[in-house]
Amino acid sequence: MDHNLQIGEATFHVRTEGDGSPIVLVHGFPLDHHMWDGVIEPLAEQHLVIAPDLRGFGQSTGDHEFFPMEMLADDIAAILDHLDVAEQVTFAGLSMGGYIAWQMWQRHRDRLARLVLLDTRAVADDEVQARARRVNAESVLSSGMGEVPGNMLPKLLSQSTRENKPRIAQTLTEMILRQNPRTVAAAQRGMSQRPDVRSWLPDIKIPTLVICGQHDLISPPEEMRELAACIPGAQFVEVPHVGHIVPMENPEATCVAILPFCADLE
Ligand code: MLT
Repeated sequence: MDHNLQIGEATFHVRTEGDGSPIVLVHGFPLDHHMWDGVIEPLAEQHLVIAPDLRGFGQSTGDHEFFPMEMLADDIAAILDHLDVAEQVTFAGLSMGGYIAWQMWQRHRDRLARLVLLDTRAVADDEVQARARRVNAESVLSSGMGEVPGNMLPKLLSQSTRENKPRIAQTLTEMILRQNPRTVAAAQRGMSQRPDVRSWLPDIKIPTLVICGQHDLISPPEEMRELAACIPGAQFVEVPHVGHIVPMENPEATCVAILPFCADLE
């Protein structure tokens, strides 16, 4: 079912499917909830799946110059309130969705039963990375999204996915091209100022699953394995042959990892 929730000055487009213990799927940058299309129905056979478009992305609205990760986490809590989801949720966030997961843990941990962290990072940007984001923000504001897929796809998808699954590359390209440059710039600025959360990891005392693509260039397996080792009891799964967008590149492996992890919440 598709919802359009008016919350404050923004309208949030949210897809929900299924019944059972809730799983919230929070997309990466610069994407929308369609990046989860391949996993929503299999997960919804056992769970209530909640897949929002973040503020300004996809079919959601909401315009700011700067999207702090804290604000995006507060938006997710407000979406859960508007959907009357009182039960604690499994929060699954990919990359930027993972940056939001840290803030959910910090600000709304009473809402969380479990975390699934896909292809994400705990470290903050260094000065070079933060400057590159500010440059990219100005560039999309002045020139639009046209150049973005060409620049990003080699970092988002493994070579094997790009060569053997061209429809995934095409779908991802179209998803990037339809994003609003003002939103993309605001998220870049927000991500450039996100905190280093490594010191938070040992305090995460809820069940946590960490998933990483073997060829992820943005959040590589060595870094994510280390991240998982800092979270007490966290499980780590590396998915072979894929890059940064594991749920699109291999939805089956994503579900094979998530469903047993959530089994006692069914
Ligand atoms: C994402 O997939 O959300 C981005 O790679 C996050 C980032 O730019 O750090």
